[in-house]
Amino acid sequence: MFTAAGGGRALDLFTGTTRVAQELKARGGHVTAVDRARYATVFAQSAIATDADVLDLAALDDELAALDAIPGHPGYATETFCRASRYFRPENGERIDAIRDAIEPRRGHAHFPVLLTSLIEAADRVDSTTGVQMAYLKQWAPRAHQRLTLRRPALLAGPGTAIRGDALDLLAELGSFDFAYLDPPYNQHRYEANYHVWETLVAWDAPAHYGVACKRAELAERERTSVFNRRRAMPGALRACVDGIDAAVMVVSYNDESWLALDELTEMCRARGAVEVLAYDSKRYVGAQIGIHNPDGERVGTVSRLRNTEYLVVSGEPALVGAAVAAASGLADSAVSGRCDSGRT
Ligand SMILES: C[S@@+](CC[C@H](N)C(=O)[O-])C[C@H]1O[C@@H](n2cnc3c(N)ncnc32)[C@H](O)[C@@H]1O
Repeated sequence: MFTAAGGGRALDLFTGTTRVAQELKARGGHVTAVDRARYATVFAQSAIATDADVLDLAALDDELAALDAIPGHPGYATETFCRASRYFRPENGERIDAIRDAIEPRRGHAHFPVLLTSLIEAADRVDSTTGVQMAYLKQWAPRAHQRLTLRRPALLAGPGTAIRGDALDLLAELGSFDFAYLDPPYNQHRYEANYHVWETLVAWDAPAHYGVACKRAELAERERTSVFNRRRAMPGALRACVDGIDAAVMVVSYNDESWLALDELTEMCRARGAVEVLAYDSKRYVGAQIGIHNPDGERVGTVSRLRNTEYLVVSGEPALVGAAVAAASGLADSAVSGRCDSGRT
């Protein structure tokens, strides 16, 4: 049973970093985390599907320490992400190659997603980007000079489920939930492309690559683009999710840069019962803060605005929706509308 305090069966359908899924698990929920990206699935296998209580944490820490100590050797990561492009300093690239090679034989073992998450997080701390991997900095970022160091990633007690797949393909088999959180992409920005280096560290398949950013060749195949990154198809896909997920309470995350109008979204949710909208003023994505850059990393422009409004559209059984909104009040800047009629926002 969903309560404002947590618990019950929870779904995070576009889990990404697993931030929300982790919070739901920490509050006692049995969480199912879904994403189509490889790296997000590995994060979910580590933070959500791994039960920290059944892992031998001392053995895990020993394994991390041993991996951290192995000397670097150049391989695909060094060649592609340090020489053909400049995401990491070569000395860190060589360590990524050596550590990733040493993790590969652990595929299938309970430690595998945890070790891989640790490596990705370590690489993230010493990268030379502005956050996304569509480009890298012309001058090395100061943190890129630091030694790549493995740490144990966040682990939580209790069971959970991680599923890699397309949300639309999975709708029929996910089951029923007390609480569902949906945070899909709402525009053309593709997550697998923004984090293509992590995709490759997970697949470890030495893919052909293209462009200055050295993106995986498969990312050039338009037909592989998520339906949520296609302007015409996205509203119908989101409606299919809203209609198709069996959850007592659903929260859909939305922002004012979406292809979809807020009214359209609230209308989609109306059949689920009560609908409430919470609004939050928020800093825009990291690229907007940094400005527009040419391929040499020179700033060539600024973006039109640095803040946007994030919305949470809460729908479902009226008493539960009321409880969820009450729990969130104080966090939101406003409860935008009790009924979400057009024009009331
Ligand atoms: C806005 S992000 C989610 C961010 C997440 N809430 C977090 O806290 O990190 C959207 C996510 O949806 C995933 N995604 C895109 N299309 C998808 C699809 N068709 N099925 C499942 N996941 C998809 C992306 O890989 C990305 O991780």
